[in-house]
Amino acid sequence: MKSLAQLSKRGSARVAFLGGVAALALLAASASADSITQKPFGKTKNGEAVSLYTLTNAHGAQVRITNYGGIVQSIYVPDRRGRLGDVVLGFDSIPRYEKDSPYFGALIGRYGNRIAKGRFTLDGKTYKLFVNNGPNSLHGGKVGFDKKVWTAVPVKHPGSVGLALSYLSKDGEEGYPGNLNTTVVYTWTDDDALRIVYTAKTDKDTVFNPTNHSYFNLNGAGNGTILDTRLMINADQFTPVDKTQIPIGIQRPVAGTPFDFRRPHAIGERIDQKNAQLATGSGYDHNFVVNGSGLRLAVRAYAPRSGRVLTEYTDQPGVQLYTGNFLTGTLKGKGGKTYAHRGAFALEAQHFPDSPNHPQFPTTELKPGETYHQTTVYQFSVR
Ligand code: GLA
Repeated sequence: MKSLAQLSKRGSARVAFLGGVAALALLAASASADSITQKPFGKTKNGEAVSLYTLTNAHGAQVRITNYGGIVQSIYVPDRRGRLGDVVLGFDSIPRYEKDSPYFGALIGRYGNRIAKGRFTLDGKTYKLFVNNGPNSLHGGKVGFDKKVWTAVPVKHPGSVGLALSYLSKDGEEGYPGNLNTTVVYTWTDDDALRIVYTAKTDKDTVFNPTNHSYFNLNGAGNGTILDTRLMINADQFTPVDKTQIPIGIQRPVAGTPFDFRRPHAIGERIDQKNAQLATGSGYDHNFVVNGSGLRLAVRAYAPRSGRVLTEYTDQPGVQLYTGNFLTGTLKGKGGKTYAHRGAFALEAQHFPDSPNHPQFPTTELKPGETYHQTTVYQFSVR
């Protein structure tokens, strides 16, 4: 958490001081219009200066984004009593992100999740990637999108504030073919929705599967585990994985398994059940096949203690549910708060892991002349 003094720089953030519904009403009356501010956020180890952008909506809810890694550094949204709290894990400085971050809040690319043995074949040519996760390549390789400095341009529209980030990944970067021009537009709306729109173009056939790796704890980052958070996942099937967390290539019905979240279940209810799939992920770390197509409801998460609800919509075929199984319980984040084992969950909207090696999965190929497009929305509310 930033100090109250820092927070109060934004008049509308006064909600931080005031409890209860009355505070919200007060705010609605006194709130200034949406705003975007920029401040220095230090330098990378290569000496590049980066910024932290604060997007404040009409009733004082805030998202902070840095152009280092396109990282969503914090999201302050009201609980059921109207009190703002930061619901994503992260750090207060760039060196911490560089040294310690398990992709907190970051943009992931070029390929979200794993590619088996760090290789794939496209147009008869085999491409080799950096192996950084057992025998596999994870989240773009050694220096993925999460560690790049993006060009940032603030954008303002009636009812929302946003930040457009772009990055040119050169032909051959991390082993991937094609000069790939990516733009990610984060939009923070007056109804507390963080909309993420990705577009990209390439000049050679390539594969592409970007995502955002925010770690949510709807009780507030650092406030215990997410085991009592209730999830509904709009998925009849998931993609089971082998011992190295690579999909075995089939889609398996969730019915009768701990992966059935079609009706809400607490994350912790079945996470430690004896189940071979849960054992490989040390909990949930699996791709769910979202029912339907187009921009649609994918996941709803509800934290009974705070009353906060997060609803995810995406046009992607899958969502990776990761329940912070690899957080050891020792990492200290923003404001010195310790992040518990399973102290957050991620809902990474994506194509299925390792798709380039599974022709039966929806394709992740991108060709010159085509424009890649993804829309994913994280909508916050209370119950
Ligand atoms: C994804 C992966 C996990 C893990 C996290 C980051 O969710 O599937 O296995 O790597 O990212 O730690």
